[in-house]
Amino acid sequence: MLDSCTIVIFGATGNLAGLKLLPALYYLEAAGHLHPQTRILGCGRRPWSDAQWRDVVQGMLAARIKGGPQAAVLEPLLARLHFAEGDLETPAGYAELARRLRDEAQFPKVKVLRSIRPIPRSAVHAQALRAQYAPGQDSQGKVPGYLEEPGIAANSTTETYAALKLYIDNWRWRNVPFYLRTGKRLTGTNSMIAIRFKHPPQQLFQPTPITRLKPNWILLNLQPHECMRLELQVKQPGLEMRTRTERLDASSCTLSPEHNEAYEALILDVIAGDHTHFLRADEVNWAWQVVDPVLQLWATERDYIPTYAAGSWGPAEASRLFDREDQDWRNGLDDAD
Ligand SMILES: NC(=O)c1ccc[n+]([C@@H]2O[C@H](COP(=O)([O-])OP(=O)(O)OC[C@H]3O[C@@H](n4cnc5c(N)ncnc54)[C@H](OP(=O)(O)O)[C@@H]3O)[C@@H](O)[C@H]2O)c1
Repeated sequence: MLDSCTIVIFGATGNLAGLKLLPALYYLEAAGHLHPQTRILGCGRRPWSDAQWRDVVQGMLAARIKGGPQAAVLEPLLARLHFAEGDLETPAGYAELARRLRDEAQFPKVKVLRSIRPIPRSAVHAQALRAQYAPGQDSQGKVPGYLEEPGIAANSTTETYAALKLYIDNWRWRNVPFYLRTGKRLTGTNSMIAIRFKHPPQQLFQPTPITRLKPNWILLNLQPHECMRLELQVKQPGLEMRTRTERLDASSCTLSPEHNEAYEALILDVIAGDHTHFLRADEVNWAWQVVDPVLQLWATERDYIPTYAAGSWGPAEASRLFDREDQDWRNGLDDAD
């Protein structure tokens, strides 16, 4: 089976589409060649909805397929069909087509959110941790704790830090843990995705004990610097089998933060009507379904909350979310690990 894609048929209401293209797609569906996520977007000037186009295609296939179409093939094929109305000789027609294509492209995001394994109430403590900042020190000097902030009740147990462990139940990410954390008054304001590679079962750097071998990483820093870094353990030159960390940085690491003000781009997207970087309502709903059970349990636990010093990387308890002792949070690009 081929990879998933969106097939665009220009002139979907015309003769060629009806006589040749859609029957051909029917037979590809029957032979199992179309990926389950493949979509077919038809374009034409007629003001048809998706449902109207599906009706037309159904009638047309009934006349074209020898012996009549089989329901087991027809139903999934019709479900793939979407229709974009527009005159492609006008800019508005292209804009509509671009919008529909973006909608199709966003579909996988919802699929991933729906695939996040729900956290049952009994697993909230194993997979989630909340905390509140206590007095501490940041680069500016001493800073107060949350309870000393103006307007905060002296016995408040409101969380200012949250960490989660999630699993995505699809074949690609099965058994890969995702660790997320966010908090106020941490050491730095930084957004980063850190991908830690597993140690391979076969040890290349014999006889270095695996417990002493550092992992390889891909680091995607989003804010304030957009940056990509690959961190690899390589053998040091020489006769001894010693490893050291080599770093490969994408050149954008050196750009100043002012260069990438994300909201500039977002405002332009709003003006242009480009939804790519915004969440759709269904994506928001699925995301809330993941965190809602956690928040509901936390709302009942108002007697105690762990704390962390302002200006630190968060509570020490957050390390317990990890599956293995040698795993921990990656604090920024230059974390020594
Ligand atoms: N028919 C065949 O067997 C065959 C075989 C080989 C090659 N071809 C070639 O395939 C092409 C299409 O042939 P066809 O027989 O399907 O023609 P057709 O029956 O006249 O259909 C033309 C299609 O193009 C759409 N269209 C026309 N102008 C448009 C515009 N400005 N913006 C958006 N959509 C527009 C029409 O949609 P609306 O009517 O909804 O606007 C309709 O779906 C031609 O180049 C032809 O030479 C056809």
